[in-house]
Amino acid sequence: MSENAHAHDAVEVIAAKRDRHELSDSQIDWVIDAYTRGAVADEQMSSLAMAILLNGMNRREISRWTDAMIASGERMDFSSLSRPTADKHSTGGVGDKITLPLAPLVAACGVAVPQLSGRGLGHTGGTLDKLEAIPGWRAALSNAEMLAQLESVGAVICAAGDGLAPADKKLYALRDVTGTVEAIPLIASSIMSKKIAEGTGALVLDVKVGTGAFMKSLDSARELAETMVALGTDAGVHTVALLTDMSTPLGLTAGNAIEVQESVDVLAGGGPADVVELTLALAREMLAGAGRGDVDPADRLADGSAMDVWKRMIRAQDGDPDAALPTARESHVVAAPASGVLTRLDAMAVGLAAWRLGAGRARKEDPVQAGAGVVWHARPGDQVTEGQPLFTLLTDDEHRFERALASLEGGYDIEDGSSYDATPIVIDRVG
Ligand code: URA
Repeated sequence: MSENAHAHDAVEVIAAKRDRHELSDSQIDWVIDAYTRGAVADEQMSSLAMAILLNGMNRREISRWTDAMIASGERMDFSSLSRPTADKHSTGGVGDKITLPLAPLVAACGVAVPQLSGRGLGHTGGTLDKLEAIPGWRAALSNAEMLAQLESVGAVICAAGDGLAPADKKLYALRDVTGTVEAIPLIASSIMSKKIAEGTGALVLDVKVGTGAFMKSLDSARELAETMVALGTDAGVHTVALLTDMSTPLGLTAGNAIEVQESVDVLAGGGPADVVELTLALAREMLAGAGRGDVDPADRLADGSAMDVWKRMIRAQDGDPDAALPTARESHVVAAPASGVLTRLDAMAVGLAAWRLGAGRARKEDPVQAGAGVVWHARPGDQVTEGQPLFTLLTDDEHRFERALASLEGGYDIEDGSSYDATPIVIDRVG
């Protein structure tokens, strides 16, 4: 607890926010500290979270709330590294495997990437679940192992340890079951407390907008991006945000092993054009933020050096980058019901289908299937012919097909002779 945090009373703090008052610095410091210690009960914190969702917090309150969450745990320090650091955070989307090619690519350009990632919950996939499809790969590293790998390889993707922003860990789990995830002040402080505590020098936020994202409207995505950029900048982290489209899923796959394969295809110089475009756009921002804007990441993809870093990064965490990836036991092909142009492919429908096939989990402790997921054989704008494969569904359990097929119903449009206006992937930049 900070020195000026006086003892307060949970009901007093809840009532203040319920009645639309600003919380004082000392009320915020006290409530976060007392909640982390267990002196404020879950039902009291969930009531406060709902009052914040309904009545908001101003910039000062969000900034103080973030600082208090950082102060609840340890801060990492990468200042001993011989190169600058940059990280990326995505607010989560369907088929979003960008971290996998991006981290080794940026490291190949001379900037170290300390990526603390999470597991998937709900319809969006988790980076650690994807990497765990690689035989032998382990997500848990000690701080010392992480620092050593950052120096020797330049890129680490691993699980965030328990010591980082423990207040957020507790609060996020509570928000998840109390209908309070969607509050912009709580999302912004949750993400930024972890990224600031992680100690990266530069940060690029990929704020997703569209049907498959937390933020369904451009206005709310922009507000979230502006709030997070201000928090990062105030904390001395060079922070920018890209607002990117998540109405359509990224690439051609949503799952675990199949997304690893698509990422390896990108590192080998191929892969879907949208995945390559977004990877390069985020890499350029990370390099510029770390003072290496003179390096063109496209060169490092083309010359194979990003692939070299990928293999070293996987091996350093006991994975075998050359081993065959797991495959699902069962597959089911959905044929195009008509000929025409695919004019819409809904990210939420695809994400739900992948989740129902076993690629994601309903509860934190559930296992995921490495081989499960959805492959789509056309992207919006492509011409399709009646009867051609449109989706391939993959799972180990045949009984899962029925519900996955139901979630794809109404999730796409094929229109005859229609012209198609492509949405750009990068919609805007904040920062
Ligand atoms: N991701 C986080 O880490 N926190 C949130 O509140 C939402 C998404």
